Amino acid sequence: MESDSDIKSTPKGFHCCLCNVNLPNQSSLDQHVKGRKHLTLSTVRTTRKTQEEHSVFVSGIKPEISKYDLAEYFQRFGPVSDVIMDKDKGVYAIVQFNDTDSIQKTLSCIEHQMKGLQLRVKPREKKEFKLIPKKKNDSQNLQQVLDRLKPGLCQLSCVNEQMQYVVERCELGENEKKARGLLVQLLQEVFIEFFPDSQILPFGSSVNTFGIHSCDLDLFLDLENTKVFQAHAKSTTEQAGEGMSDDGRSEDSILSDIDLSSASPAEVLELVAAILRRCVPSVHKVNVVSTARLPVVKFHHRELNLQGDITINNRLAVRNTRFLQLCSGMEDRLRPLVYTLRYWAKQKQLAGNPSGAGPLLNNYALSLLIMFYLQNCEPPVLPTVDQLKNMACEEEECVIEGWNCTFPSQPIAVPRSKNTQDLCTLLAGFFSFYAKFDFASSVISLREGRALPITDFLCQNKGEETMQEEQPTKPHQTGPRLGPLNLLDPFELSHNVAGNLNERSQRSFQKECIEAEKYCRSLQYQRKSTKGKSWGLVRIFTPHGEVPSTKTEQLTISIPFKSASLPQVLRNQLHMAGDGFRLLWFQKVCSAVEGVFQSVLKCHLDPSTDAVFGEHSAVDATEEMESTSASLNTSINDSCDSVEYPDETSPLGTAVVGAKRPLSSGSDASVSPHGKKPRLAKRGKPAFPPWVCEQNHVVWAGRRKVRRELIKDADARPEGSCMEMESKVTAHIIEKEPPLKDPLKFKVQPQIVGGTESTKAVLKLEPSRDQAGVFQDFFHFLEAFLPKMVETLLEREVGSS
Ligand code: UTP
Repeated sequence: MESDSDIKSTPKGFHCCLCNVNLPNQSSLDQHVKGRKHLTLSTVRTTRKTQEEHSVFVSGIKPEISKYDLAEYFQRFGPVSDVIMDKDKGVYAIVQFNDTDSIQKTLSCIEHQMKGLQLRVKPREKKEFKLIPKKKNDSQNLQQVLDRLKPGLCQLSCVNEQMQYVVERCELGENEKKARGLLVQLLQEVFIEFFPDSQILPFGSSVNTFGIHSCDLDLFLDLENTKVFQAHAKSTTEQAGEGMSDDGRSEDSILSDIDLSSASPAEVLELVAAILRRCVPSVHKVNVVSTARLPVVKFHHRELNLQGDITINNRLAVRNTRFLQLCSGMEDRLRPLVYTLRYWAKQKQLAGNPSGAGPLLNNYALSLLIMFYLQNCEPPVLPTVDQLKNMACEEEECVIEGWNCTFPSQPIAVPRSKNTQDLCTLLAGFFSFYAKFDFASSVISLREGRALPITDFLCQNKGEETMQEEQPTKPHQTGPRLGPLNLLDPFELSHNVAGNLNERSQRSFQKECIEAEKYCRSLQYQRKSTKGKSWGLVRIFTPHGEVPSTKTEQLTISIPFKSASLPQVLRNQLHMAGDGFRLLWFQKVCSAVEGVFQSVLKCHLDPSTDAVFGEHSAVDATEEMESTSASLNTSINDSCDSVEYPDETSPLGTAVVGAKRPLSSGSDASVSPHGKKPRLAKRGKPAFPPWVCEQNHVVWAGRRKVRRELIKDADARPEGSCMEMESKVTAHIIEKEPPLKDPLKFKVQPQIVGGTESTKAVLKLEPSRDQAGVFQDFFHFLEAFLPKMVETLLEREVGSS
């Protein structure tokens, strides 16, 4: 499938012409060609080519000619495998044959007459297969809206007015709502013909009060009643004999093709797609996506220029849409906040991926994050979902798929919030809340209105127990898929609504919150510019990617706490450690870092740090740690200490910043890697200075080539995934390449950050002797290599323990 001509070498690595992407090195190229995008495009290209070679283009037809008429006519030249009609205008068609001989026969026929029409038949044009970038309709529209929005925003007198203005300019207009309503009605009429008693129900932004121009139309096709109908018709038919069902419908209706009680969602959706293609005018680009979490049929409505999605088995979405409507109805400040923050997130490329795939937040998740923040304001702006449940009356009780979805149907049933903060303050509060939020150790629960400790979910069994206690009616379930951002659906408690996010997108979200928080503290946020400059929301909406990184950032390497990628044994250990999990994890990371420097990269580690960095004594390190933690946010309630390693010879230096509670908190569950409870460093006794490392060889240069030679493609694993291989690569370089004339010396200071930020190990690197001027190169290599290698070593350590 894959063609060598797709890949071109460039001065900066490689370029894949098929996917139009640049790849910096061989390992990313190897990953890319094995990746989904490349494989899918290769398959599509092969299919298109086959189709082109097997089909002819037919014009001169009329709308009343069907594909069956055409198939019947062209059968005389050979077996026809498919006919694709230009459905809307009915003027051309593509006729596809099983073999290429039939094409020759068709083209050599001088005249094609069918039902009194003179058909014109041509070979298919051979088009070069090209990746057409997805039309950026949505973002272009939004950009245009912003351009139009800016002057208006700048003229208003305060941020509150600006936020209301964003709503007015972006919300769905009455006519748009009406048009959507009519399409829903039309679809309902069509579907009921094929699926008796079915119901088509809109959910999502079209109806949740947060819809913007051009938002998609999400629909749930409820086939529950159709199933009952079908079961009833079946039993009646069996009693009455074959042929007719009780209402006189012919047995060869579309329903007789499928048994809804046993058909897979993909099979049902194929049927739905066929109905859309054949029977709904103006509907085109109909596709079944059966690989999605919830399989869906996607379509586009040409006249309304509207993207639609139809799902089945999605009753929960209709209910959570009702929930959003309720919240919007009981709290007027929610809509301006949601519109403003959706807009901000779009501009910063944090949310709103139109295809719903990829590592961005979806709009539903973003709305939930806003609502969670409002639950946590002082006093709360919104009640928790549990509180809402208690405000509902008996008739409002609702359980879907075992999940309790009870809440009042009318906003009037919910007492007004005592919080009187204005929109401007609440918006700034949102940024501040998430700028400080410890995503790594929390699972956000709107149900309880608080962050649950991730340790409750790290151990799968424990997670299951917790959920079953909360939801006694729910049958056995697996826990949510943990990731860098854990946001539980308010009803389906086993679903992490932000489970698609990766480290990078979570970090970007928090980074943008930090930036916005800083800006909200400036005068430009609240005060209108008298000189006509951008102020208030306009500055918040400035597109993503304008903050250059600082020099100090360049010399630190972060190893984030990634709960999802930890081996289960380690997850269990961390779970047992309770609040002390951060330090236990940090301890493991430090051992792994030491292993990378010492065993993999063959650095000499000097434990007698004072010889080189005498100014940073062990006691200083402990004091620095304590003072840093004391100056941090009030949520860090205990002082922090370093952890003494069970292996007394370890030269690790560990400064601990911002951990909520150290292992010293007396948690009996705290364990060391060897099963011992970690002890604290005593004051006055040397604690853990930073590593002082010496490197005599350029072990970072040419690794890829050496690895390739050593592996000879027998066991091609990506860089950093195998400790033995990487150690061999280093040994090989040391053996073959001359040593540095003047060894490189550098200091590595590990710290743990967490408590007010996401938990991560931060390694600060500082050269102390670099006569050869190679430190920057080594550092750039370590930036990518070290985190990957640490992950590998963590798995290994756990595997062998
Ligand atoms: P979207 O994220 O598309 O939200 O989810 P939206 O408000 O409709 O925004 P846009 O404008 O289309 O992007 C659509 C609906 O799907 C359900 C929710 O009901 C949501 O309103 N949904 C989505 C879930 O139930 N769970 C999810 O994880 C995501």
